[in-house]
Amino acid sequence: MATCSVPLSRLARSLPSSAIRDLLRLVDRPDVISLAGGLPAPDLFPAERLAEAASRAVASSGRLGPPALQYGTTEGLAELREVVRTWSPARSADDVLVTTGSQQALDLVAHALVDPGEVVVVERPTYLGFLQAVAPCEPRVVGVGSDRDGMRTDELEERLRSGLRPSLVYVVPSFANPSGATLSDERRRHLVDLAERYGFAVVEDDPYRELGIDGHPPAPLGTSSDAVVTVGSASKVLAPGLRVGWAVAPKPLREALVRIKQARDLHTPTISQAVAADVLGDGDFMASHLATLRDGYRTRRNALSAALARAFGDALHIDLPAGGMFLWACHPGLDAAALLPAALAQGVAFVPGVVFGTGDEAHGLRDRFRLSYATATPAELIEASGRLASAVGEVRSLP
Ligand SMILES: Cc1ncc(COP(=O)(O)O)c(C=O)c1O
Repeated sequence: MATCSVPLSRLARSLPSSAIRDLLRLVDRPDVISLAGGLPAPDLFPAERLAEAASRAVASSGRLGPPALQYGTTEGLAELREVVRTWSPARSADDVLVTTGSQQALDLVAHALVDPGEVVVVERPTYLGFLQAVAPCEPRVVGVGSDRDGMRTDELEERLRSGLRPSLVYVVPSFANPSGATLSDERRRHLVDLAERYGFAVVEDDPYRELGIDGHPPAPLGTSSDAVVTVGSASKVLAPGLRVGWAVAPKPLREALVRIKQARDLHTPTISQAVAADVLGDGDFMASHLATLRDGYRTRRNALSAALARAFGDALHIDLPAGGMFLWACHPGLDAAALLPAALAQGVAFVPGVVFGTGDEAHGLRDRFRLSYATATPAELIEASGRLASAVGEVRSLP
């Protein structure tokens, strides 16, 4: 095909593609065990229950035919908004906006709250998809350190005292991507207090909340303040192919989100919404399904962490996550990005830590790795650990 000579907009020219998606294309080889993507375990999809819900949705009738096949409101199907209310800090179904995956909620929130040049604060490391969502708003992104208890809110307070004035602070408070950390109850209260004192919004992105392997995370930040927008998703508890997420926001912000979404895609596919409402609303099924998910991910996490400990001994530091899908590992002195080609040659993939940092601060994450235990089977995770150790041995023995 002839190359296109149509001039692209400034935005189209400036937006980088996701380093992880580029990497996933590279590792899509049958001989590679990928610990790179954050893809849910395919054997844990509730496929039969989803199929039952889909056929019920198509067969159901309304004045304008099956609602699942008709246009819907931008806010989302009433049944789903009511179910989400029970899964989130929303006080009423009216507080809920259904979005096309939680990624769209992040895009809408960024566009509703951030003007060019304004400060956006993220954890270091942070979720790459948020950096992509906020990039078109041309913010100044500032990273604040984090540890096993999530964002260092004491460091944030110091920066605020020194004059930093963010329009929003973004956190993944439960079993974070990529660090696995969970924001402690004390820091949740501190962050909300800072938001109210300094007048910024907190974006609480909580897709892993239900995937607690060793217990539940503290209550969502959104239950205690109107300064918080809570973003959730059906992707990790049902299936990402549904593309169902949501935002719970106070009225003036929610109305702005609805206006922006209307221009973007009118509404989230009604068929997906009907399926999600049916399954998420089935309390007995969800209780047993979530128990299956937690057991499945616990087995995988334990298989990978034990195999890495056998293969590396003390050389690899791992912060064992209490839930979610990711191990955040550190091999002091090793450049993870430089290791990747050797790892791929050995048939294993991961994401180098620098990808999750911002600007110059990313450099501090160069000896970090994100290893996902979600997709591969326990046997593959054990094999992958051995391959990773071989790759490290190879790189280390280079002159
Ligand atoms: C922290 C976080 N937020 C948002 C998303 C986007 O999820 P989705 O758009 O499938 O709901 C992901 C996906 O991996 C994620 O890890």
